[in-house]
Amino acid sequence: MITPEIKERLAKAIKGEKHISFLVGAGLSAESGIPTFRDKDGYWMPGSPNYTPQQMATWRMFCQQPLVIWNWYLNRFHICYQAKPNAGHFAIKDLQDLFPERFALITQNVDGLHFQTGMNSKQIYSIHGDLRFMRCAAACHKDLIPLPNQLKNRGLQEKLTKEEIMLLQCSDCSGFYRPHVLWFDEIYNEEYYKIHTVKYTAINTDLLFIIGTSGATNLPNQVFQLALRNNTTVIDINPNSSLFTAEILYSPNGYWIKEKSGEALPLIVEEMRKLKTEIV
Ligand code: OAD
Repeated sequence: MITPEIKERLAKAIKGEKHISFLVGAGLSAESGIPTFRDKDGYWMPGSPNYTPQQMATWRMFCQQPLVIWNWYLNRFHICYQAKPNAGHFAIKDLQDLFPERFALITQNVDGLHFQTGMNSKQIYSIHGDLRFMRCAAACHKDLIPLPNQLKNRGLQEKLTKEEIMLLQCSDCSGFYRPHVLWFDEIYNEEYYKIHTVKYTAINTDLLFIIGTSGATNLPNQVFQLALRNNTTVIDINPNSSLFTAEILYSPNGYWIKEKSGEALPLIVEEMRKLKTEIV
């Protein structure tokens, strides 16, 4: 799995000075029991009788039916609140500990599992939001409000109760809070989704690991392109091919490790630990 060529690339990156970065998607959390979006049993695959998820996960639909959308999200998120980080999440934390000055994590995952590992959260960029938080839908203020525990532990329910609805109302303007996630009809910004920071990170990276993502969204694609164009070594860990695969295989700087992240990442981090001791 770690070929001599990959080993050489890892050693080269360890000698570098730029970031050692991760671009992470839903596949990382698959081994924690959270469905991905586009695999066979993914969130985006089963439609509802009336709407597809792509229609549901929109600002437009939230404006029309805030309670229906909140209930859909709380039910969808239910499984995330029960989940625990897996070996892949912990390996990423270990790598942060090995390179605390150079580490960066760009995650599309809203499940919050990285934060449960005890990582330094300043180096985590949650580019699609974070379901542990909500914010005022009318933006009467910009603060992120932790999702109340009652809403995390409610289990699967058909409808929101009166008490739950009250918890979803902004304490300042009494309008609704919204989930702190990026919707299909919204665009990335710096304030909530760190668009500029992650692009800057991408062009200042010696080694980029891409973990468990199909490459279907915009900013991750830009991160990938910026890194490749700046001569970064890119190692993609995914048991299946993705929209990145062809370019990775074509590029002299790209490597595809066709394994599950929970299995491959701990071995890679161990290898990097050994190499670091030999080099330093
Ligand atoms: P996808 O569901 O599109 O892709 C998941 C990827 O994980 C696939 O390429 C799988 O092959 C791979 N995979 C599955 N199990 C794996 C494992 N054990 N180890 C490694 N890889 C594995 O999910 P994302 O690429 O994360 O955005 O989707 C990107 C975005 O699309 C999401 O953040 C979400 C969605 O629309 C928003 O909600 C804004």
